[in-house]
Amino acid sequence: MKITLKVMRQAGPHAEPRLVAYELLGVTEDMSFLEMLDVLNEELTARGEDPVAFDSDCREGICGMCGIMINGQAHGPERTTTCQLHMRSFKDGDTITLEPWRASAFPVIKDLVVDRSAFDRIIQAGGYISVNTGAAPDAHATPVPKENADRAFEAAACIGCGACVAACPNASSMLFTAAKVTHLGLLPQGQPEREARVVNMLQQQDAEGFGGCTNIGECAAVCPKEIPLDVISTLNADLGHALVRNK
Ligand code: SF4
Ligand code: FES
Repeated sequence: MKITLKVMRQAGPHAEPRLVAYELLGVTEDMSFLEMLDVLNEELTARGEDPVAFDSDCREGICGMCGIMINGQAHGPERTTTCQLHMRSFKDGDTITLEPWRASAFPVIKDLVVDRSAFDRIIQAGGYISVNTGAAPDAHATPVPKENADRAFEAAACIGCGACVAACPNASSMLFTAAKVTHLGLLPQGQPEREARVVNMLQQQDAEGFGGCTNIGECAAVCPKEIPLDVISTLNADLGHALVRNK
């Protein structure tokens, strides 16, 4: 396939972004999207040009590092991570536009790489449980109702990629935060900090500059891990309990 890439290049956090076109020949449909970018970068390096900076690590959909706006869609046309997207989703002769996640809480570092440490600080504000360390407890020592275990497991699938923020017109991180609150709040180990968790994580979310949630649902529509929108209802219920009990 012959593919034309239009890549938003930005040399550094304060540099002016500009869209640069590259023609790439010999792209096969079996290539992953990131392998296709590797080929581009090999060509750029061979020509003595600066390769396109993009994030990746596991390249198997589990670490949450990758994330590119592809033709205006977070992670591209399939409901998957950028690293799990393949060139078979495109046609010979296609032009593909690549941009970084756009959100003031995710400042651009270089080209397609953004700083997502705001997510780390939201986790630090409450996305944990405090337990005494010691010998590993017996697996069945703490019973968890099946319904809660299933829903906690579903929410725990969030990989922190940030696509939900990138897709949201408000640049809200509510789906991410709600996934963490739901995951921990439904398990017995998460109960002691349940009220403080939701309040502190939301305060940090606001402090980071993420927008408010207005129930648009773009976040859940693009989430590669299919985190359901109703985790936000669970977060709101937890917040309501926390506010009433600590009035
Ligand atoms: S909720 Fe989905 S889109 Fe948002 S960070 Fe988690 S995995 Fe990514
Ligand atoms: S590189 Fe790990 S999820 Fe894409």
